[in-house]
Amino acid sequence: MLNNLFRKKKIYGNKNTKLKRCLTVTDLTLLGIGCIIGTGIFVLTGIAAANQAGPAVVLSFVISGLACTFAALSYAELASSVGGCGSAYGYAYVTFGEIIAWLVGWILILEYGMSIAAVANGWSGYFNNALSSIGISIPHSLTHGPYQDGIINLPASLIIISIMILLIVGVKESVKFNAVMVLVKLIAIFTFILVAIFNVEVINWQPFMPYGWFDKLEDGRTVGILAGASIVFFAYVGFDAVSTAGDEAINPQKDLPRGIIYSLIFCTLIYILVSALLTGVVNYKELGTSSPVAFALTKIGFKSASALVATGVISGLTTVILVLFYALTRILLAISQDQLLPEKLSVINKKTQTPVRIILLTGIIISVVAGLIPLGNLAEIVNIGTLSAFIFVCFAVLKIRKSKLNYSRKIFKNKFHPLIPCLGIFSCAALVFFLPTDTWLKFIIWNGLGLFVYLIFGYKNSRLN
Ligand code: ALA
Repeated sequence: MLNNLFRKKKIYGNKNTKLKRCLTVTDLTLLGIGCIIGTGIFVLTGIAAANQAGPAVVLSFVISGLACTFAALSYAELASSVGGCGSAYGYAYVTFGEIIAWLVGWILILEYGMSIAAVANGWSGYFNNALSSIGISIPHSLTHGPYQDGIINLPASLIIISIMILLIVGVKESVKFNAVMVLVKLIAIFTFILVAIFNVEVINWQPFMPYGWFDKLEDGRTVGILAGASIVFFAYVGFDAVSTAGDEAINPQKDLPRGIIYSLIFCTLIYILVSALLTGVVNYKELGTSSPVAFALTKIGFKSASALVATGVISGLTTVILVLFYALTRILLAISQDQLLPEKLSVINKKTQTPVRIILLTGIIISVVAGLIPLGNLAEIVNIGTLSAFIFVCFAVLKIRKSKLNYSRKIFKNKFHPLIPCLGIFSCAALVFFLPTDTWLKFIIWNGLGLFVYLIFGYKNSRLN
């Protein structure tokens, strides 16, 4: 069965996919960095240090980074062997069949859709602050949705519409824009590193582990390094987005694994450095603010801190929205090609060579959601979705290796098999375990909904059926 699905997927994929192959390994790595570095490092680091892990938040980053490394190696192997633009959805399709694939796809829609809307809300907050600091103010009713005494969060909607237009225009144009914005956010981060490195006070690192490894408080909150790891995991969300460029990479078998691994290694190193420095220059108890990096810089007397960080965050969040949006459209393209969503959506525009219908539909829905609903901290629900997708990908590697499919010899293969996928399953499952219980409940409800959608549409209309 596995061989049949694999062959079918390849045939269908080739027939319907006319995306343009134009992305190099540098483009892919920059896409990864564009998507990975965002709210996680600029906001969550401080919150996780203050509430969960103390200065040991650096260990939370190491642990999360390790779990992601095992998953990334598994993604790299499947991106290189199975390919396609469906990422975990496509890999689940050829290994576990349609219904599991649909659920994985449904989880990815949650991961990417929620992240885009939530990051756009965060983007709007920073953008409004930046405008007010130069004397321009947008009325409250146009920066807040109806649930917050306003009409619409216009900046949040408009950033999504602007990125939608960019994605329609073409992938190469989007990638160029991403590269410039990544450069801006990296300048902000490196400036912080350079300034902070000379202002560390070792006393701030003591006590190093004020909340220990893991504890569950009476109010249901979880604390400790491991609870911190399951929160800061959000900072790593996005390296998997690189695998959705399978149909647009010039040399996917070689470059996709490289793009995934290079971007993850680079961001992990940055995270470890930034979190260690942040807790080194300010006491962890003071870091529970919405802009801990700016707070730390101001505290050490760096006058233009907020302007610098605001520029870094605005450009950083723009690239996160761009790449997550890009990835979501490619996953939806793969799902609609398999007719688990209407096939009409999967048409590729001849001129721009992009899936215009999907980009338009997704852009309009998400811009309405982001404009009307105040999406606050969705990191936990996004994390549980992403971790589950990672677990499926690791299982897929185990299954696909067992099936002894006749791969080309050029593909990327993990040397330590089955250790890597097993460690990936174990570490991602552990991070799911450390998330709060109500996050699990929300996740179960989302999957129940997914099953319902499958039964009323996908089951009857799918290509396999
Ligand atoms: N990793 C991305 C961020 O931190 C989603 O914003």
